[in-house]
Amino acid sequence: MEENTRGCGDTGCTEECCSGCEHACSDQQPESLIEPTNEYNNIKKVIGVVSGKGGVGKSLVTSLLAVTMQRKGYQAAILDADITGPSIPKAFKLKEKAVANELGIFPVKTKTGIGTMSVNSILENDTDPVVWRGPVIAGTVKQFWTDVLWGDVDYMFIDMPPGTGDVPLTVFQSIPVDGIVIVTSPQELVSMIVSKAVKMAQLMNIPIIGLVENMSYFTCPDNGKDYQVFGDSHIEEVAKEHGLEVLGRLPIDPKLAAACDKGMIELFEGDWLEELAKKLETM
Ligand SMILES: Nc1ncnc2c1ncn2[C@@H]1O[C@H](COP(=O)(O)OP(=O)(O)OP(=O)(O)O)[C@@H](O)[C@H]1O
Ligand SMILES: [Mg+2]
Repeated sequence: MEENTRGCGDTGCTEECCSGCEHACSDQQPESLIEPTNEYNNIKKVIGVVSGKGGVGKSLVTSLLAVTMQRKGYQAAILDADITGPSIPKAFKLKEKAVANELGIFPVKTKTGIGTMSVNSILENDTDPVVWRGPVIAGTVKQFWTDVLWGDVDYMFIDMPPGTGDVPLTVFQSIPVDGIVIVTSPQELVSMIVSKAVKMAQLMNIPIIGLVENMSYFTCPDNGKDYQVFGDSHIEEVAKEHGLEVLGRLPIDPKLAAACDKGMIELFEGDWLEELAKKLETM
């Protein structure tokens, strides 16, 4: 069969007719599933915080990043996409529930003015478990993007659930994420875990801003020396392998655990994420 310039078997096919054409043209773009945010919102940059594994410190890094950017004078926001294990209200000691009107849902503001939305801000009791099917969970994350009155936001950080499952897929498909930060810890598994996150980002066409190694070392308060509790870190090799940069290293620090678990994250002291913050400013 003779083919036209668009690679379609229909020799009468023109660019104009392609939308209704019964032949599948080889150069047709897949349909975008990106959802528009609320018309009252002006969100400049959206950054996803991901890892291939649970418990490595995504929520801690998300919170510290939002606090860092807010301290620099930007308007930061956090969308807590971890529906079954939300951590953000606890890290910021947010007890208040979200309220809504006919235009949308208002984010819950932290003491320093960071806008947040989390499933715990809409559940009656913090301890109520979310026992929902995947599509309902994914729908909730989408609504946090479409129905929340975020207003003007310079940097929105999305705290992802662990892994590369349903919710990260929904976030990458329906929210215009400008880049992701991959959080890792220095155990042996790191190479495989980072590879999974990198491959997912590539598959979804999302730029990777860089890597953050959490629990990287421990500084002994008695002698001031740094100890690599989990053995030598392989983060530099892993980063090189994927052509990525390591933009931050966080120590194991009981003060960080307390800040995160006791709702005092806005009081943290430390400049571990400065390099990453500078990178975000140049985006
Ligand atoms: N650098 C650190 N020093 C001390 N404690 C830490 C550090 N990083 C994280 N933690 C503690 O480890 C726990 C897990 O951290 P966090 O909730 O940020 O991980 P996560 O990757 O978001 O977990 P999940 O996959 O369950 O969402 C928290 O209780 C936190 O306080
Ligand atoms: Mg978390």
